[in-house]
Amino acid sequence: MNVVIKNDAAAVTEFACGLVRERLAERRYRVLGLPTGGTPVLLYQALIASYRRGEVDFAEVVSFNLDEYLGLEPTHPQSYRRFMEENLFSHVNIRPENVHFLSGLPEDIAWHCADYEREIVEAGGIDLQILGIGRDGHIGFNEPTSSLRSRTHETALTKQTIEDNRRFFERAEDVPRWALTMGVETIMDSREILLLATGRSKADAVKAMVEGPVAAICPASILQFHPAVTVVCDEAAAAKLDHDEFYRWTGDNQHRMLEFLAEQRRRVAGN
Ligand code: GLP
Repeated sequence: MNVVIKNDAAAVTEFACGLVRERLAERRYRVLGLPTGGTPVLLYQALIASYRRGEVDFAEVVSFNLDEYLGLEPTHPQSYRRFMEENLFSHVNIRPENVHFLSGLPEDIAWHCADYEREIVEAGGIDLQILGIGRDGHIGFNEPTSSLRSRTHETALTKQTIEDNRRFFERAEDVPRWALTMGVETIMDSREILLLATGRSKADAVKAMVEGPVAAICPASILQFHPAVTVVCDEAAAAKLDHDEFYRWTGDNQHRMLEFLAEQRRRVAGN
């Protein structure tokens, strides 16, 4: 895992936006996996600003969102579909036909989930999957103890997740208890993963994900098995990491290895 620690949420956003921009500038990155939640809002704002400055183009981008609440129609103010429309899609030039979403009202759940998997494969797979993380270590809506080999599926939400989502709904009883989510293995199939974590409330989850054992009790810990993951967090979310000095050193000194190697080559050639 490449763990990047930044001072605050603004610096996390700048780093993440730069990475997304760079990847989209490469032709082979076209398919994005997108998250909802409070964390990516700043990233979406930064991407919109970049788009307005002509630094990033969504004309060829294909998107697959991670999850959706069961029971909400796409126009429901709290649906993730609506969230994406308001926070990103309506502000950039992504083509509506390239936007993919799980339905909150599927007629046949199993068929719908299998169809979503098929659509991802048909699009060529997800090139860059952006993720947030739940306080309990969930990714998408893959809650603790859900299978680390899961594909897109329906899930019940934990009490903690329901409480965390309460802030978006008027009444506690309106908060959905079930959702559809890309599976852990669906996420792991992505070519590259960028996970954002900000704030003190994520410190335990970040610690378990990066330095804990790989276990279904913290679904995000499976990312330790992925060869191309960047975790970018602010100081508060990184506060419980034991090896933070190492992450900071490697982050600040990436260029040094090549300089060192060039120096050694010169030394050997000079002998
Ligand atoms: C929800 C979403 C996740 C998201 C998590 C954290 O559960 N399904 O994809 O990562 O919330 O959200 P926030 O960024 O608001 O803390």
